[in-house]
Amino acid sequence: MQWKAFTIAGVIAAFFAATAQPAQVQDWSGAERDILKSFWIGSLPPLAKDPSNHVGDNANAAKLGHKLFFDKRLSGNGEVACATCHQPDKAFTDGLPLAQGMGAVPRHSPTIIGTAYSPWFFWDGRKDSQWSQALGPMESPVEHGGTRTHFAKILVSDPAYHKAYEDIFGVLPDLLDNRRFPSAAAPIDDATARAAWTGMTAADRQTITRIYSNMGKAISAYERLILPGPSRFDRYVEAVLNDDANAQEQFFNKDEIDGLRLFIGKGNCTQCHNGPLLTNNDFHNTGLSSIADTPEDVGRAAGVKSAKTDEFSCLSQFSDADDGDCGELKFAKVTGAELVGSFKTPTLRNLTQTAPYMHAGQLSTLVAVIEFYNRAPTAKLGHSELLPLDLTAREVGQMEKFLLTLDGPISAPRDYLAPPR
Ligand code: HEC
Ligand code: HEC
Repeated sequence: MQWKAFTIAGVIAAFFAATAQPAQVQDWSGAERDILKSFWIGSLPPLAKDPSNHVGDNANAAKLGHKLFFDKRLSGNGEVACATCHQPDKAFTDGLPLAQGMGAVPRHSPTIIGTAYSPWFFWDGRKDSQWSQALGPMESPVEHGGTRTHFAKILVSDPAYHKAYEDIFGVLPDLLDNRRFPSAAAPIDDATARAAWTGMTAADRQTITRIYSNMGKAISAYERLILPGPSRFDRYVEAVLNDDANAQEQFFNKDEIDGLRLFIGKGNCTQCHNGPLLTNNDFHNTGLSSIADTPEDVGRAAGVKSAKTDEFSCLSQFSDADDGDCGELKFAKVTGAELVGSFKTPTLRNLTQTAPYMHAGQLSTLVAVIEFYNRAPTAKLGHSELLPLDLTAREVGQMEKFLLTLDGPISAPRDYLAPPR
């Protein structure tokens, strides 16, 4: 395709293609061009600072975070790292319906690409920063299944970690005294770990939790560099904005154009999937049921309450933000029927690699997802915001073809897409 325009036959073919099938070079109206531009990757603003994380843009912190992200020692059984469930070659997902760590996780692993732009983390938004999000799985018994004293001791005893940490955050204390700092202590559900934790002095607990929160901040500095690169859709929009008919034809075929029209028109997808990441980062009830034999998931209704009381929230002592920086958390609504059964709108970039779909991997193909929207079933919990779409089978296919154009490379330093050497 790239060379087509450089051969005479190609030029002639392109001319005839353009005249014979005028639908390929679309007449997008001014308003439509504005919409397309708003979804274009070129409209993604530079990532704003995270005021709750003073090392969010520190290159050394990202380096340390990269190591931590891939390190299986940071788990209860030495076998689980962040990268177990967020694999770079699967767009930082795992290909499973439900995640599998030390145990079975009741939700599907979402991508982390571009999530640094989101004000809320997890499907239910129970965390309000990327660094505090990272601290959830590490102590979750079904994910890393570790404890914060165990993690802090690894940092102190591994010479490379020790140096990297001190260069960024300052002097690490000596944690070798196992009576003062038990090897597995944390304020978690496990009775033994909790007893060990409450047996420590308040000052020692504070010391450990400070180190733990700094680990999250380093991991976040790494994740903030994992961003989406331009997809074929972005090339097409560029061609539209430049009025470059040849390039438009090169990047999108008729079905893809029709699918795009449905996406912004009859499909009403852009009510929630908008902006360059194709998400409004908000929570919606789509009427999707939980998987059979599991209780219905209340989603955001519980998530927002957890976020408000989270030990590592923007307003916590471990956050670097001022009160004035925490408006999103302070003013988040905690009650309201619309929160029940609502989940965070996911990005639609890189869908070929993020299957299966939805918060519990309920739908295995894109066609299944589009057919689900087409039916718009009544919600078992709360109220669905969707209306049936009346798409024909052909339109379902076109919409799928359009969604597949949103795949693109990951924009990140190359070394960061593989385990550290
Ligand atoms: C056992 C698999 C597993 C491991 C290990 C794991 N995650 Fe996740 N991750 C998930 C699942 C599942 C979710 C969604 C959970 C939910 O919403 O309740 C998630 C959610 C996230 C999100 C939120 C994305 C969004 O759009 O809100 C980020 C970011 C993330 N993980 C990063 C990490 C980091 C960093 C680590 C390591 C400290 C990690 N994960 C370890 C499975 C895992
Ligand atoms: C009312 C808001 C809303 C509308 C309208 C909407 N979506 Fe979604 N979309 C969501 C939410 C929320 C989820 C996650 C739902 C869940 O997991 O329970 C989602 C999930 C998805 C997913 C799965 C992505 C993944 O990685 O799991 C795809 C694909 C998708 N939507 C495409 C579409 C298309 C195509 C349309 C239009 C036909 C559309 N959406 C309309 C809010 C919406």
